[in-house]
Amino acid sequence: MGRHHLQIPARAERIDVEPYACLARYYDEVMDHVDYKGWANFVSRVVKRHGRKFSRGIDFACGTGMLARHMTGHGYDMVGVDGSVQMIEKARKLKGKRGHSLEFQVCDLRELPMVPRQQLVLCLYDSLNYIMDEEGVADFFRVAHSLLEQDGLLIIDLSTDANSRFHFSDYVIEEQVEGASYRRVSRYDTNRRIQHNVFNIYPDDEEVVYVEHHKQKIWEVAAVIDIMMGEGFRVDAVYHEMTFRRGDEESDRVHIVAEPV
Ligand SMILES: C[S@@+](CC[C@H](N)C(=O)[O-])C[C@H]1O[C@@H](n2cnc3c(N)ncnc32)[C@H](O)[C@@H]1O
Repeated sequence: MGRHHLQIPARAERIDVEPYACLARYYDEVMDHVDYKGWANFVSRVVKRHGRKFSRGIDFACGTGMLARHMTGHGYDMVGVDGSVQMIEKARKLKGKRGHSLEFQVCDLRELPMVPRQQLVLCLYDSLNYIMDEEGVADFFRVAHSLLEQDGLLIIDLSTDANSRFHFSDYVIEEQVEGASYRRVSRYDTNRRIQHNVFNIYPDDEEVVYVEHHKQKIWEVAAVIDIMMGEGFRVDAVYHEMTFRRGDEESDRVHIVAEPV
């Protein structure tokens, strides 16, 4: 079931690459349905709702930097970090809005980036789902804790089991983007709670197919909250899909707001 039925090229040379190594070139177009401006607006409303007035933040697993850029439009100086060199190369082309600074670094989620302490730490759009083990998730929270000022906030999201079961258990899409066509095949391993997304990317100007196998752990919301609390956070709210309704395992995505204690 695809949005468009394309004639995907037949290519014999297959090159396996790390997630986002090739997709980075086309990511913004592949994600053009994502309302990053709306996400930034939501984040800024969450901060106000939780009684804070911030002007500095860091976005972990920032990808091509779209959310961080929109945060500068809300009066934030932003740093974005991501583990993918190719995603950060794209992000570095962006400029902050209204004179606010926007910087990017390559850094794994589980490692401390070279930045000053922050008021706001973000990790959004299913990025924490890329961390496959509890130890790694704990490492991220430890990093976030050591970066946050005392009155700071952490906002993360998680894609849920419901999202994978209902939308990505057996899903195929083929699309044409500028400079390439691609096929994404998604399968959900319900037993191991692993979401598999395999991207086959056919650049127009190369006679090869790049293959990226993305694996995401579909964490139980309660399990992640336990890990967070173990790393010194208090959870202030769990929101349902960018609203202020209470989120739970029935939500496609939950946003968790926490503060260091
Ligand atoms: C679904 S994308 C989301 C990107 C961005 N937050 C957005 O909203 O467009 C997931 C991102 O997580 C990054 N990522 C995955 N595992 C990572 C890790 N261990 N350390 C740092 N970044 C990671 C990927 O490189 C990718 O940019």
